[in-house]
Amino acid sequence: MKKFLVTANWKLNGSYNFINKNIKIIKKINHSLKYCQLSISPPYVYLHYINNLIKNTSISLTAQNVDIHLKGSFTGEISVNMLKDIGVKYVIIGHSERRIYHNEDINFISKKFVLIKKYNLIPILCIGETEEQRKNKLIEKICINQINSILKISNINIFSNTIIAYEPLWAIGSGKIADINEVKKVILFIRKYISSLNKEIVENIYFQYGGSVNYFNINNFFKKKYINGFLIGKASLTMKNFIFLIEKIEKNLYLLNRS
Ligand code: 13P
Repeated sequence: MKKFLVTANWKLNGSYNFINKNIKIIKKINHSLKYCQLSISPPYVYLHYINNLIKNTSISLTAQNVDIHLKGSFTGEISVNMLKDIGVKYVIIGHSERRIYHNEDINFISKKFVLIKKYNLIPILCIGETEEQRKNKLIEKICINQINSILKISNINIFSNTIIAYEPLWAIGSGKIADINEVKKVILFIRKYISSLNKEIVENIYFQYGGSVNYFNINNFFKKKYINGFLIGKASLTMKNFIFLIEKIEKNLYLLNRS
């Protein structure tokens, strides 16, 4: 059974104090989870420290970025091997905040995707449209362009055991979660596209949703098994809220699995 992957993307937040207080709480709830799998994505500098704290638990580590080079004169960059060295399992790439503030384009992101896979880490590929693109009905084109750009430098097998996170830009940090029917449409569209190239591969892809997920707005997300996880920003930073949210997800998954 695929577990539901809840990734806490802390973005540029956190401190030793925050971590020491909150990892204990996360470890405690993690004990009781049957359907949810937790992953923490802190800033780079805390990955190693958190890795030591979560040893012998099922909580995993996600990096927020990686470079396309393995070594050399690339000041400020971190390689896939370095991430592996410190126990990272997943790497977020293509996040809109990196596309916007660091000018990362689809070709650059594709190179990261291929490299992450080559070194046996799992990419979390974020894709999603702006409000403007949505109005112009470009959602499907945006998603397919990113997938095709990866296919240009690799082949469909590269998507096996990867994660695609649908994160509409207008939903990130805005408090406006996307409508489940629209999320479903996008995920089904991507599934169909990949499945037209290889039927088996699509079954090995996790689909996450990200964008203003919180305790109050996720009810509709559990009517059907379209989504395999959430990528959570703001709501993962206040521990009380985060724990309530995880409990609610777990309860919904329990009900979904019984139905
Ligand atoms: P918010 O949950 O704060 O909207 O952020 C979503 C996100 O960007 C996760 O990667």
